[in-house]
Amino acid sequence: MRTRLLAGVAALFPIILLQAAPVHAQTAAALAGQVSSEQEGAMEGVVVTAQKPGDIVTVSVVSDDKGHFAFPKDRLAPGSYNLTIRAVGFENSAPAKAEVTADGGANIDIKLRKARNLAAQLNNAEWLASFPGTEAQKDFLMDCTSCHTLERIARSTHDVDEWMTTITRMKGYAPVSQTIKPQRMLDPARAGKPEDYRQAAEYLATINLSATDHWEYPLKTMPRPKGAATHVIVTEYKLPRPTIEPHDVILDRDGVVWYSNFGEMFIGKFDTKTLQHTEYPVKQYKPDAPVGILNIDFDRNGKLWFDTMYQGALGELDPKTGEMKMYPVPAEYNDYRAQLNFVGLRHDVDGKVWTKDVGTNNVLRLDIASSKWEMFRPTDKLTGPRGIYQLISDSQNNAWLAEFGDGHLGRIDAKTGETKWFDTPTPHARARRMAIDDHDNILLTLYRANSVTYFDTKTEKFTEYKLPTPYTAPYRAAADKNGNIWVSNMTTDRAVRLDPKTGKTIEYLMPTETNMRSAYVDDTGKNPVFWIGSNHQAALVKVEPLD
Ligand code: HEC
Repeated sequence: MRTRLLAGVAALFPIILLQAAPVHAQTAAALAGQVSSEQEGAMEGVVVTAQKPGDIVTVSVVSDDKGHFAFPKDRLAPGSYNLTIRAVGFENSAPAKAEVTADGGANIDIKLRKARNLAAQLNNAEWLASFPGTEAQKDFLMDCTSCHTLERIARSTHDVDEWMTTITRMKGYAPVSQTIKPQRMLDPARAGKPEDYRQAAEYLATINLSATDHWEYPLKTMPRPKGAATHVIVTEYKLPRPTIEPHDVILDRDGVVWYSNFGEMFIGKFDTKTLQHTEYPVKQYKPDAPVGILNIDFDRNGKLWFDTMYQGALGELDPKTGEMKMYPVPAEYNDYRAQLNFVGLRHDVDGKVWTKDVGTNNVLRLDIASSKWEMFRPTDKLTGPRGIYQLISDSQNNAWLAEFGDGHLGRIDAKTGETKWFDTPTPHARARRMAIDDHDNILLTLYRANSVTYFDTKTEKFTEYKLPTPYTAPYRAAADKNGNIWVSNMTTDRAVRLDPKTGKTIEYLMPTETNMRSAYVDDTGKNPVFWIGSNHQAALVKVEPLD
């Protein structure tokens, strides 16, 4: 009886599906189409971007294994759109335009041809894979990706001597710089001396165009997205000035986006519903020092705290009133070397906030009520290269330190001031950024080890997950409600989702160069949504996986 019933139900299904499918196809998409090329036929993994000329919002989808792509109806308002693509090695063979109507159903075939300027399409990871040489020779190039891409290096014609002075000039720039806005650090010692860079210079002269008129090594490209990596919608919101560098991006309870501007003295706010952009100016204390803000985060009272890097102060913004309080570091700890970043925000425990100074390796703690500052020297216990990247507070307001020079994780006990250091599971891993959950588990990116790592602060054990794509060099990571880990990076232009149960990743390709710093997950909807600041393209980027 049961079998017959099931068979009967099964027999009904094909009929229902046959009737439903064409109707569905007509109403679901605002715009759909096919991407193909002579070389490959139908092409999977091509990012297709739609933009109304002059609009600040662009929407991107990715073609499936049949070369088919579709923009859902609620994502494109009626109007004329230009369509651009990203598929390394290919370009549009002719400008693609489409007219979207309120009824949807627009269709377009996009024909691609071989790119005439492949080098202009490579991301940093592709350059690093292409450059000949040993990993040890290439290592320092990881530090050349934060202000501009490696293409500039490959295309240059500097010989060894010119490289030694060029690298010295680069080392003197503050990380808040972009090529359109160089900013020099006040501390001359940070630049080093040309002779310090002879080895790097000798290597660079072998990979650029100083001795030849073309690269004598093949340009290697990463595979295009496949399968699950094509199930995504990426929305970019362009900010009004190219000098805005959205570094850390977070959402408030109403879903409004807040970001730190790494290149200017503003905290930014952006409402994706109204497209309204608001900027809160931050006081500049030192007229000659570089400007820009790295980190922002909410404290337990809903106030936004931020650092001011070379300006040597912390700030607190009430997002409701726009009122701002500043906490400048006292002169005894605040000279031309100051580069404050990150705020340890569990002052609900003991009334104190932590921060640290890259220029001196000082860790500082402010007692908010008494305005008293204390100074700690945790890295004095370490030997070899050392520098603290991030500082974060745990539930007892102990300070945790990600050590970037070599690779350690440290803790300063809030009560005793004692420091304890832990070696990262991969040696010389260069610990970069952290996130901490309510159980004091720390999620840590290991920049040079190409991994993300949990540290259980109770058992003091690490669990490391290697990222499969070489040179991903993770910047920051965040866990979503499904337990997946999202990773931002400055090399692959891919937002990475790692499943710790299987160790597998899905890598979502962004439509443009997206030098990513933030890794914020909005867990309020059905699927987690990942937010990034496009640090070089002045855009906020929303990555919505469809599964
Ligand atoms: C802190 C930001 C920053 C970092 C990091 C950085 N650069 Fe630059 N780079 C700039 C800026 C700003 C410019 C444009 C102004 C200039 O040329 O001085 C530039 C321009 C260049 C140029 C083109 C100009 C020229 O003289 O040929 C090259 C090549 C270059 N950088 C190489 C490098 C190398 C190699 C590294 C890593 C050792 C590096 N950069 C790291 C900021 C940076």
